[in-house]
Amino acid sequence: MNPSTSPRTERAPSHRLTPWPKAVRDVVVNGLSASVKALPPWLFYDATGAELFEQICDLPEYYPTRTELGILTQHAPALARHAGPHAALIEYGSGAGIKVRLLLDELETPQVYVPVDVSQEQLMAVADERAAQYPGLRVMPVCADYTKPLELPQLPASARRIAFFPGSTIGNFHPTEAAAFLHRVRHTVGARGGMILGVDRRKDPRVLHAAYNDAAGVTAAFNRNLLVRLNRELGATFDLDTFRHVAFFNDEASRIEMHLESTIAQQVRVADVVIEFDAGETIHTECSYKYDEARLTELVEESGFRIEALYTDVNDWFWVAWLQPT
Ligand code: AVI
Repeated sequence: MNPSTSPRTERAPSHRLTPWPKAVRDVVVNGLSASVKALPPWLFYDATGAELFEQICDLPEYYPTRTELGILTQHAPALARHAGPHAALIEYGSGAGIKVRLLLDELETPQVYVPVDVSQEQLMAVADERAAQYPGLRVMPVCADYTKPLELPQLPASARRIAFFPGSTIGNFHPTEAAAFLHRVRHTVGARGGMILGVDRRKDPRVLHAAYNDAAGVTAAFNRNLLVRLNRELGATFDLDTFRHVAFFNDEASRIEMHLESTIAQQVRVADVVIEFDAGETIHTECSYKYDEARLTELVEESGFRIEALYTDVNDWFWVAWLQPT
C-alpha cells in the first residue's frame, strides 16, 4: 500500500541515526583497538545480516523464535486481559511486525500502535499494513534507535501504555544496559502502564550450543558477515578465510558469547588504522544473556517493574513476562 494513502498511519517526527560512516568508524576502530577486542551486535544488521537473521529464526536448532510465537499464541488472551481496554501498544524493534498481530487480535479496542524501529522502509511498510488490517487503530510509527532515549509522539491520555519487547533481544544487552533500557521503558509507560517482555531462559548448555552453532552454518555466516560489512563500508582488509565463528556458553556470566577468531597472527587495516591480531585472538561480537528467575527478578525490580506473570513453553526454555510498575 502506498504510505500516503493510509489515513490511519501518522507520521511522527522521526529520529534519524547519525550518518553511518563517522559514527561507525569510531565505534569499530575503538572496539578493535581495545585490549579485549569487541564490536557491538547492532553492526550485524546490514541488509545481508538482517536476511541471515531471518534464516536463523527458521533453523531447527534455533528455538527462541518459534518457542516465543507458541507462548504468545497460547497466552495472548491472558496478556490482553492484563493490558485491559484502550491500550497504546509501543513495540520496541518492530521489525517485520508479525508477533504484535497476535496481541492486536486479542486486545480489547486497542487505541494506538507505536512501532519503533531504525529501519525506516520496513517500519513504514509495517505501519501501513497494520493500519489497513485494524481499522480504528491509530498507527504512529517512530523511526529511532530504541537503545537510546527516544521521544514518542503525543499519545491519548486515556490510553494505557503497554510496552512490547519480544524476541529475547533484552538478552543482547549487558545487564546494566538492560536495566537502563527497562528503566526508560518504565518511565515511558508511566505508573499505570505495563510491559510484555520476551526472555530466553537458562537451559541445558547443549541446547544453547546447538542454537548458536547450527549445522547449516547460517549463524557462522551471520557472524562473519560483520567482517564483509567492514570491508565494504570501511575499506577494511579482513581476509574472511582467516577468521572463524566461535560461540559458547559462558556459565558464570550466563550468556552465549559469539566471537570471530583469527586463525593466524596478522595485521588488518581498518579505516587507515592497523589492527594486530595474535593467532587465536578473538573479536567478541555478541552476548546473548540467558536468564533464570532470580536474575530476571533482580533486573526487572532494579528497573522499577515487578513480574506479575511468567508464561512459558513445555520445555521451560523461554518466557513471555507481564511486568507492572512497582
Ligand atoms: C536478536 N537476538 C535475540 C539473537 C540472539 O539469539 O541473541 C541474535 C542471534 N545471534 C545469533 N543467533 C541469533
